[in-house]
Amino acid sequence: MSNIDPLTFPPGFLWGAATASYQIEGAAAVDGRTPSIWDTFSHTPGRTKGGDTGDVACDHYNRYREDVKLMADLGLSSYRFSIAWPRVQPGGRGSINGKGIDFYQRLVDELLGHGITPWVTLYHWDLPQELEDAGGWPARDTAYRFAEYAALVHGALGDRISNWTTLNEPWCSAFLGYASGVHAPGRKHAPDALAATHHLLLGHGLAVQAIRAADPAAKAGITLNLYAISPADPSQEDDLDAVRRIDGLANRIFLDPVLRGAYPEDVRQDLAGVSDFGFVQDGDLEVVSTPLDLLGINYYSRHVVGAPDPDVPAEPYWRASTSWPGSEHVRFHKRPGHPVTDMDWEVDAPGLTETLVRVAREYPAIPLYVTENGAAYVDVPDANGEIADIERAEYFDAHFRACLDAIAQGAPLHGYFAWSLLDNFEWAWGYTKRFGLVAVDYATQTRTLKTSGHRYREVIRRNGLAE
Ligand code: NOJ
Repeated sequence: MSNIDPLTFPPGFLWGAATASYQIEGAAAVDGRTPSIWDTFSHTPGRTKGGDTGDVACDHYNRYREDVKLMADLGLSSYRFSIAWPRVQPGGRGSINGKGIDFYQRLVDELLGHGITPWVTLYHWDLPQELEDAGGWPARDTAYRFAEYAALVHGALGDRISNWTTLNEPWCSAFLGYASGVHAPGRKHAPDALAATHHLLLGHGLAVQAIRAADPAAKAGITLNLYAISPADPSQEDDLDAVRRIDGLANRIFLDPVLRGAYPEDVRQDLAGVSDFGFVQDGDLEVVSTPLDLLGINYYSRHVVGAPDPDVPAEPYWRASTSWPGSEHVRFHKRPGHPVTDMDWEVDAPGLTETLVRVAREYPAIPLYVTENGAAYVDVPDANGEIADIERAEYFDAHFRACLDAIAQGAPLHGYFAWSLLDNFEWAWGYTKRFGLVAVDYATQTRTLKTSGHRYREVIRRNGLAE
């Protein structure tokens, strides 16, 4: 795809913002919704910052009309949101919950009424607790339950929604959920994380098949969190091998089975001491690699990795070695002087270009969408309550330029979703981290468009950058 004006996006480029059910909806126990693993986890002392939960969150369940107005005001062409499985199929089995699906019917109608295309994610981490009690994602049956749920949701909304994303960031579900345990359900058993990976992908493939069987014209995809990865010292063999390992566990363990129909051989070897991949049954990889219409990429940062240093203690959260089974000896680096966001993630816009161009080159020509990109910063309202979040605005600007660079280099990028429409519940960090284009005052539920939101509106209006 080539572009004449270097600051303008191709015609029809989709501009969106994204959220996820547990992070914004609240209304956790109404209209028949049953607990998800995130309700259980966040209500367990010590699991989230300050004991924060998604019980109320942004109260979007009750305020969705106001929120759709905000989207319309921003000029969004699309809104990416997720469906809470335990709201529409309480307990994860059986028939659809009328009141639960009704919420999404109303939301979708409201979006369409404002000319905003709904972009649905079926699973953004809120597994019904009953399915976790029955084994969770390490259990094969969960994949079949997921496909059944996908078919139910498609049956109810398929007439009005054409874009279907099965999973959001299965790396987080599997590795943070079952290996390091910093996300729900908080289990710490590396072999289970690998079984979970496979069953998530199997569920993805089965769900795509179920949706296609109901509507051959439906557009189906998956969203992966991909990283640019580079060596601490490119002249060191060990550092280059650390890149290979982390690229294997972060990127290729998902890209390869989904887009090529096989787990990467080197990753299987790295993991030989953890799992024999005995959970892969005949025919599974054909299902996992069911052809897709698009690939969603969530990009936030770059990993800089190198050989181990026994004197450096393991870092917290997803740099922690427990999140990377088979790579316990890799050391994650922070480059001195490199700017980081409030998540302590390096700001690295060229890494987005690199990621898009790499996927376009190494995997079949599949349309790409940035389904998440954004930054947490500490926002300080001024005396008038305005939030001049210049760092976030600059982060976005640099990443828009990175998208333009990727398009100029031939990446088939068709859309971009900012994370996030609203400040929201940032998982284990609770409400301490703010990613929104719109600020949320949790005490009053007041919404205020930040400077980054005003600037995003301009970018959307121009379909490009001013200079
Ligand atoms: C990835 C996840 O999909 C989303 O839920 C999360 O809030 C953002 N990244 C920021 O961490």
